[in-house]
Amino acid sequence: MSTIEKFNKHVVQSYGRFPLVMEQGCGRRCKDEDGKEYIDFGSGIGTNSLGFCDEKWADAVCSQVRTLQHNSNYYYTAVQADFAEKLCNASGYCAVFFGNSGAEANECAIKTARKYSFDKYGKGRHNIITLVNSFHGRTIATLSATGQDVFHNYFFPFLEGFINVQANNIDDLKEKLDDTVCAVMIEYVQGEGGVNVLEKDFVDAVFELCGEKDILVIADEVQTGVGRTGKFLAGEYFGKKADITTLAKGIAGGIPMGACLMNEKCQGVLTKGTHGSTFGGNPVACAGGLAVLERVTGDGFLDEVCRKAEYIKNALADCKEVESVSGLGLMIGISLKSKKAVDIAGKCLEKGLLVLTAKDKVRLLPPLTISYDELNDGLKILIEILEE
Ligand SMILES: Cc1ncc(COP(=O)(O)O)c(C=O)c1O
Repeated sequence: MSTIEKFNKHVVQSYGRFPLVMEQGCGRRCKDEDGKEYIDFGSGIGTNSLGFCDEKWADAVCSQVRTLQHNSNYYYTAVQADFAEKLCNASGYCAVFFGNSGAEANECAIKTARKYSFDKYGKGRHNIITLVNSFHGRTIATLSATGQDVFHNYFFPFLEGFINVQANNIDDLKEKLDDTVCAVMIEYVQGEGGVNVLEKDFVDAVFELCGEKDILVIADEVQTGVGRTGKFLAGEYFGKKADITTLAKGIAGGIPMGACLMNEKCQGVLTKGTHGSTFGGNPVACAGGLAVLERVTGDGFLDEVCRKAEYIKNALADCKEVESVSGLGLMIGISLKSKKAVDIAGKCLEKGLLVLTAKDKVRLLPPLTISYDELNDGLKILIEILEE
């Protein structure tokens, strides 16, 4: 039986998969089981921030696996303490709760916001505003938070307490920001929603109006965080720091981890017994996270991310099939004039390039460490296919 046959027989069929069996990766290239090579413009949906099996990262992870692979959260580890300290320093937050995914990080943010409000104002102030076209995860709470009807099927009843506002519509926001609201949750760049950057005026209005009413701002930086956009947090582009910021995807370089960062206001909200996660803050994930942090916060690293992003945008500018390019840093959405993004992704795969899609756009999330040679090789394939 082939891998694909075995897989399809025993793994739940909840994904639309391309017929590719990945076998190994090195740097920004990987190989399938037949030895065919691919250039990676997707980083496993933004997770492999340092590329495949980066040497220092792999050393850190392997060394931790051999020392202490897991520890109950009833005890402490130095590696979790170190990672928490460095993550807080890099992001400007004062405390973090570790989970294992973006959805879990957002669950933590939702619980924190509701408890913050309950502790201070009592019952009835539990609603959370999220944006139309947002994406916050696949658990029932984060699906309920997600502002896309397509996700609100089958699994009824969804959770109460989420109200959608049109992105960039300040009037809609003002109208819905009433006394029942405890938080507004935004993605500075809607990733799954099509790589749409929020307008600065709207972000300003969110922070201003929330500030006036002691309503928390939650920034879902699961996709944008940890250097993806060329800043450590995308909020830096807007001059903003949310009360709570969630991270996942690239945070540990390809090992499952989610983080919910909190400011002084929120730091003490989750008290003993109110939240937890068996694997949260796992030592191996923290070791991976430390290796990612060290690189991403290194001298000039994020400037280089920005330069590479410009390089990609310039290369695409002359392509006849490209309608427009959106995004921040190495989170790039390409609108096409006539072709379908999913067809382009399939053709790229055939020619040895991994790209992603987001709604009707081709989405690029290359490893932050990608070289100009690799960019040239990948862009050549992509542009040739777009101009076919
Ligand atoms: C902005 C955002 N939030 C949350 C999630 C959910 O993350 P996870 O799949 O790790 O639960 C995603 C995943 O794509 C995301 O892009």
